[in-house]
Amino acid sequence: MTILYSFGARPNIVKLAPVIAALRRELPGHRHVVVDTGQHYDPMMSAVFREQLGLGEPDHVLGVGSGTHAIQTARVLERIEPVLIAERPDLVVVPGDVNSTIAVALAAAKLEIPVAHLEAGLRSFDRSMPEELNRILTDQLSDLLLIHSAEAVDNLRAEGIPDERIHFVGNTMIDSLVAVRERFEHLDVAAGVGCERGRYLLATLHRPALVDGPLLAAVIERLAELARELPVVFPVHPRTRAGIDKLQPAPGIRLLEPVGYLEFLSLLADAAGVLTDSGGVQEESTFLRTPCFTLRDNTERPVTISAGTNRLLGLDPGAIDQILPALRAPRGLPAGPPDGWDGHAADRVAAVVAARLDRRAESQSRALASRR
Ligand code: UD1
Ligand code: UDP
Repeated sequence: MTILYSFGARPNIVKLAPVIAALRRELPGHRHVVVDTGQHYDPMMSAVFREQLGLGEPDHVLGVGSGTHAIQTARVLERIEPVLIAERPDLVVVPGDVNSTIAVALAAAKLEIPVAHLEAGLRSFDRSMPEELNRILTDQLSDLLLIHSAEAVDNLRAEGIPDERIHFVGNTMIDSLVAVRERFEHLDVAAGVGCERGRYLLATLHRPALVDGPLLAAVIERLAELARELPVVFPVHPRTRAGIDKLQPAPGIRLLEPVGYLEFLSLLADAAGVLTDSGGVQEESTFLRTPCFTLRDNTERPVTISAGTNRLLGLDPGAIDQILPALRAPRGLPAGPPDGWDGHAADRVAAVVAARLDRRAESQSRALASRR
């Protein structure tokens, strides 16, 4: 049998790499085909993640690049279809909520190829986010909904997904973190940018609602104020770069190009706190117990708030002023990581997928026997 795995954006690689490794171990006699849609293409947005997570070269590279939502999604649809027809996979695995996720799931579903959605059931209930539409539609198209936190069950039931398609597996992004922990713990990347461990705020922002318009200038103004007391280290996502370059440089804010995965985890583990609008960073900071301040009105990951590490600031640059007082206030130890964020989620994915493929093989041989 053949399993096809597809990734497009940098967080997809972090979620998928341990799953591919686990399924290669669990099902060595099967074919494992890896597709890179090319949604992210700069070496520091893509290849560095494959290299640091030991994923190797993909079997197919679609090279879709950047574009409007319609153009990017359409290019993936157009280019994945011949790959699916040629490879005839028995299962397609898609992670996350990016344009590549929905496009590959849609192309596969129309060819009647079963889809497994990794990180299913997350909802911000904010349909102005492109990711929310991608999540809802991908879940509707998928046969296996692999969830990483309990609230996803209610979200999926509310959309009419039957329980037998929902499988709790835990968080494979945390598998990647656990797998590389010894490689980043002693890196001290902060020292290389003139900061001391525990004495800087890490920032990472890339949501269109925040960085494509005037809010970005207000964010930088508030961060410059904060940086008078606590240096800010800010690896800049390429979407955010154009807006940042139009602004006055602010002393105290160390603007960096996107950093590699190990380097980012080193910065995150050693930071006094992190300001973000990233989904993955809300999760990784929960595991690492780094206080996280989310500059959004909502989160599809409420489990990071109940775990005690994440705080929603709202989509309001003025709320950045709450960070220093919050970091200075005494706080109890956060609850441990959520269930299933334990470094073994990919093994549970492999067990679910293996059982699904067994059922498929049985029904194929029954169908063959009845035709004879
Ligand atoms: C995408 C995802 C978002 C995810 C993020 C992870 C969608 C709708 N959005 O957002 O959910 O959180 O990835 O980082 O799928 N660019 C480069 N080099 C690259 C990639 C992008 O310069 O390698 C620039 C291009 O100018 C591009 C812009 O970044 O137009 C945005 O890229 P795109 O993939 O469309 O969306 P992201 O903002 O990265
Ligand atoms: N990340 C990284 N370098 C950076 C910023 C983020 O390696 O400069 C990693 C981070 O550790 C996490 C993932 O990228 O694993 C999150 O990606 P991003 O924030 O772009 O996307 P989101 O999670 O919001 O979809």
